[in-house]
Amino acid sequence: MDSNGLVDYPKKIPVAKPEIGKEEIERVVEVLKSGMLAQGKLVEEFERAFAEYVGVRDAVAVSNGTVALDLALKALGIGEGDEVVVPAFTFIATANAVLFQRAKPVFVDIDEKTMNLDADDVAEKITDRTKAVIGVHLYGHPFDVKAISEICEDYNLFLIEDAAQAHGAEFEGRKTGSFGIGCFSFYPTKNMTAAEGGMITTNDGELAKRLRLLRNHGDAGKYDHIMLGYNYRMTDLQAALGIEQLKKLDGFNERRIGNAEYLNKNLRDDIVKPMVVGKVKHVFHQYVVRVGERERFVRELSRAGVGYGIHYPLAVYEQPLYRSLGINGDCRIAEEVSRRVVSLPVHPSLNREDLEYIAEVVNGIDLGC
Ligand SMILES: Cc1ncc(COP(=O)(O)O)c(C=O)c1O
Repeated sequence: MDSNGLVDYPKKIPVAKPEIGKEEIERVVEVLKSGMLAQGKLVEEFERAFAEYVGVRDAVAVSNGTVALDLALKALGIGEGDEVVVPAFTFIATANAVLFQRAKPVFVDIDEKTMNLDADDVAEKITDRTKAVIGVHLYGHPFDVKAISEICEDYNLFLIEDAAQAHGAEFEGRKTGSFGIGCFSFYPTKNMTAAEGGMITTNDGELAKRLRLLRNHGDAGKYDHIMLGYNYRMTDLQAALGIEQLKKLDGFNERRIGNAEYLNKNLRDDIVKPMVVGKVKHVFHQYVVRVGERERFVRELSRAGVGYGIHYPLAVYEQPLYRSLGINGDCRIAEEVSRRVVSLPVHPSLNREDLEYIAEVVNGIDLGC
């Protein structure tokens, strides 16, 4: 408290912060000095290391996570007239990837506890046009892979895992991205980063070949263009960063999990705190609470210098883009949850003092109930 009786908040805690060490800096500088900046040997090295980490045959590096989803659907041959089931509550890229193919995203509701795909609603929404299901391991909590895989097997559908938020997460002891076709993002707020970047993981060697062609102008050799492709390549600069970050990923995740445990134990009980459901490893890409008086809550966080995020403020089909396209959904839980979620800092750079401060601020907010 200062002499005017105003509370003096000393801290500024960002909601996300990439941790870049000397290993990453040295590796990136090496690439810069080599002059070999675009896709080359380091991309190959990153792909091998990532495939081994996830436990799959192939990993294909691309320029970002949106492109990973886009190429996965393209390589599977999803196109006009097809339907793809997606959760109503996710980052918009999950559904947009379906639009890129001129296919139709069909929105399903979420489970109230995990905020992930509701398997019963997935089964409800399948039609004879459905070709694939994209499950999202939202906030780092794996979706119910067993239930969703069974539905995919029963109806002969492709399973795509949007693992943009779930590097190193596990479902029943197996890494996310190893069940279907995995799509990862390395955006700077993610559990590991390559500045920007993405990776597609698969056990299907033929699919991996198609993905590599699509990524690079359909080029099967030197200027041997056998199909229409894109420039969706990752650079060696990004790969250098990614290789060093991958080595640290398990350590980052353990710190996220420890921070989440602290917050779960020390935050007030009149807000809904994250739950871990089933035999999963939740890697806390986000630590998301649900509150009634969200505006007041986030105003107080801001005043106190505690960074926060709203992931996400609307169900995807409520976004102006989907409204304008006339693509609707009827997902009551997704809509309700979107009005209440607040992400608090949980990143690995937080120290004990930061965590105590976050708890003190959150527990001191008058929520008027
Ligand atoms: C669930 C989800 N899917 C896809 C993406 C897209 O990844 P990128 O930002 O790398 O394109 C993100 C990124 O935020 C995401 O959170």
